Order: sequence, then structure tokens, then C-alpha cells
Amino acid sequence: MFNTMTITKAAGALIGSLLALLLLFWAGGALFHIGPSGHAEDGEVAQAYSIEVEDADGGAEEEPEEELDFAVLMESADATKGEKVFGKCKACHKLDGTDGTGPHLNGVVGRAVASVAGFNYSDAMVEHATEDPEWTPEALQAYLLNPKAEVPGTKMSFAGLPKPEDRADVIAYLAASE
Ligand code: HEC
Repeated sequence: MFNTMTITKAAGALIGSLLALLLLFWAGGALFHIGPSGHAEDGEVAQAYSIEVEDADGGAEEEPEEELDFAVLMESADATKGEKVFGKCKACHKLDGTDGTGPHLNGVVGRAVASVAGFNYSDAMVEHATEDPEWTPEALQAYLLNPKAEVPGTKMSFAGLPKPEDRADVIAYLAASE
């Protein structure tokens, strides 16, 4: 009695596992069939392309974003667009040689840092001038990306221009002002 039950159980377990195995094989077979067998050539071609594209994308995305060549960006900068971007600066900066909350910015590209006579710069900006004396396009783009990070303690209350194109365009606009 006991024996028969044990055997029945064992047999049931065995059949169960066999069934499970069969199902697994069947599922595996189905998967394999979908892949290479039916459209071996198409599949291979498509794969070859997708790998190339991924590689190309990876390379293209990583390099320019991480080590952004600002000089290249400046070449395609658009002063007309920069005029619009300058709308964000107008509340504090003028281009007619007079100062407001901030110093006038006409001729600022290539100008010495903190050099507008009579403007009351922050100590931070005066200090910055000793390390980085000239407003080159690169220096400007670093400052305009995040003024408080580039010159900690600056009294320019401006969050920054996160888009590299905006910075390039506004610098091109400022470079055209005298
Ligand atoms: C809320 C007012 C405000 C806004 C908006 C503002 N600035 Fe300024 N900016 C200042 C002040 C104030 C200073 C002087 C900073 C200091 O002394 O630390 C300054 C300084 C500067 C300087 C350094 C000038 C020099 O003579 O050394 C540059 C360049 C500059 N700003 C560019 C810009 C640009 C470009 C924008 C717009 C994208 C802008 N700022 C937006 C207030 C502002």
C-alpha cells in the first residue's frame, strides 16, 4: 500500500518534470526558430547594420558632448539669435557704455575681467581677474554656463545658460558690439 503510493507519487513527479522539460524544449525551439532559421539573411544583415549604427552613435554622442570644442561651436554661432538670448541679460546689462546693475557689456569679448572703471565689482570678480584676466570666448562661455560655479561669490544673480548654442550665440552677439 505504502509502496504503491510512493511509486505513484514518484511516477507523478517524474511525469511532471518530463512535461516541464518538454515544454521548455518546445519553448526554446520556438524561440530559436523565430531567429536565424526563417530569415537567416535578413536577420544577419539587419544585425550587422544595427551593430554598426550603435557603434557610430556611441562614438558620435560621447565625444562632442564631453569634450565640447567651443571654438567649433563659435564658428557656427548666430549673432541674430544671440540678440534674443541677450534679452535675458538686458535687465542688468547695457551695450551703450553705461552701467546698470551689471557693467556695460559692449566690447566685453577680449576685455579684461573686472575692468570697467567706476563699476563696483564683487571681491570674487576682482579675485577672478587675477587668475583668469581676459574675457575670451572660452572664459565667457564657462562663466555664462554657471556664473556662481565659475566665479564663486559673484554678485551676478543669473542662473546661467545651459545650452551651449545659446552661449555661443550670445557671445557672437557681444563680439559684434563695440
Ligand atoms: C540680475 C542681473 C544680471 C543678469 C540677468 C546678468 N548679469 Fe552679468 N553681471 C551682473 C553683475 C552684478 C555683474 C558683476 C559681477 C561681479 O562683480 O561679481 C555681472 C558681470 C558680468 C560679466 C563680467 C563683466 C566684467 O566686466 O568683468 C559678464 C561677461 C556678464 N555679466 C555677462 C552676462 C550675460 C551675457 C548675461 C545674460 C546671459 C548676464 N550677464 C546676465 C548682473 C547680471
